[in-house]
Amino acid sequence: MTKIPFFDLHRQFQALRTEILADLAQVCESQTFILGPKVAELEERIAALTEAKFGIGTSSGTDAQLLILMTLGIGPGDAVITTPFTFFATASTVVRLGAKPLFVDIDPATLNLSVPKLEEFLKTECVAGESGVRTRDGLNVRALVPVHLFGLCSDLAGLRQLCDQWKLSLIEDAAQALGALFPDGDRPVKAGSVGAAGFFSFYPTKNLGAFGDAGLVVTSDPDLAKKLQIMRNHGMDPKYYHEVVGGNFRMDALQAAVLLRKLEHLETWSKRRWSIAQRYHSALQGLGIGLPVEPYHKSCGWRGHIYHQFVIRTSRRDQLRAALNEQGIGTEIYYPLPLHQQRCFQNLGYQIGDFPVAEQTAKECLALPIFPELTDDEQASVILRIREFFER
Ligand SMILES: Cc1ncc(COP(=O)(O)O)c(C=O)c1O
Repeated sequence: MTKIPFFDLHRQFQALRTEILADLAQVCESQTFILGPKVAELEERIAALTEAKFGIGTSSGTDAQLLILMTLGIGPGDAVITTPFTFFATASTVVRLGAKPLFVDIDPATLNLSVPKLEEFLKTECVAGESGVRTRDGLNVRALVPVHLFGLCSDLAGLRQLCDQWKLSLIEDAAQALGALFPDGDRPVKAGSVGAAGFFSFYPTKNLGAFGDAGLVVTSDPDLAKKLQIMRNHGMDPKYYHEVVGGNFRMDALQAAVLLRKLEHLETWSKRRWSIAQRYHSALQGLGIGLPVEPYHKSCGWRGHIYHQFVIRTSRRDQLRAALNEQGIGTEIYYPLPLHQQRCFQNLGYQIGDFPVAEQTAKECLALPIFPELTDDEQASVILRIREFFER
């Protein structure tokens, strides 16, 4: 039985081996390992790609979010609204600063934070006063962090309108959505560029993955960009003088070199992900399983969903996963337990049943192999086994 991996980084490395090793050697020759010209070049390139004015390279996506929240001065007594159906870091960064994450349920089709539910939450649970929005128990609601899950942008127009109305900072968790488009009026906009700041993760399995941890913040606000740069480096400005307590959130040059080389291929890889997704879509119709939606395809083309993951939903998820596993086919569950149910967040006071869509989705979701180097034959086998499972 030939195994079909859920993800295979070796294939990508083998294809780019010579160039990447030469790039790494160049950094070693320079002996400039922290920030420096490679990081600056990457910051410029990602800012240009996302149509933001500034890029600030960081040590991870998690640190990128922590850096933004710290720079905005979010801390004890504050709250940040986000989705319970995301990777842990989206909410843990809030908790680490002594603030409280406030969850709002997701949309059942897009799996992103629901705009109507957010509006209802703000109207029923929050009060707008002179010093901003407060929860009924007196927390200052400072920001909204929507997540562009699996490579599909949240409804940024609806969210931005609510953020403007309620005076919340919009911070985009675009960790999974580098290069994705959202149709804003008649002009598509890039993931990460709509809010006060947005951030990306270059975790190795992301669409653009480093050889370790790395992340990046984008913003078009020059004051915020300056503060983020200072905060990223221990709040130091000038050298060895600290007006604020920052952190070490710096990106290293070896990661930037890898990312710059891989960036040349991002468009080709994203298109390949799109075509794999299209094949899954047509081959898995009619089986009674939930498939990803592509609400922005008409105006944004393939960039309307960059398919970091292809996630299906079925009430027979665990049996399907076991059947695929028996055939040597790798799958993954993003995410098996919504954040409000995580043990470490029990003190936040949420109950099972608070976010029914997130809870149901966590029981039904299954991510299928969708990396660019997946071969047509491998995908055909995945499709065949899924069809067999449902048709027998
Ligand atoms: C939605 C989301 N937010 C935040 C992160 C954190 O990024 P990192 O793993 O680079 O710290 C990730 C990636 O793992 C993610 O998928």
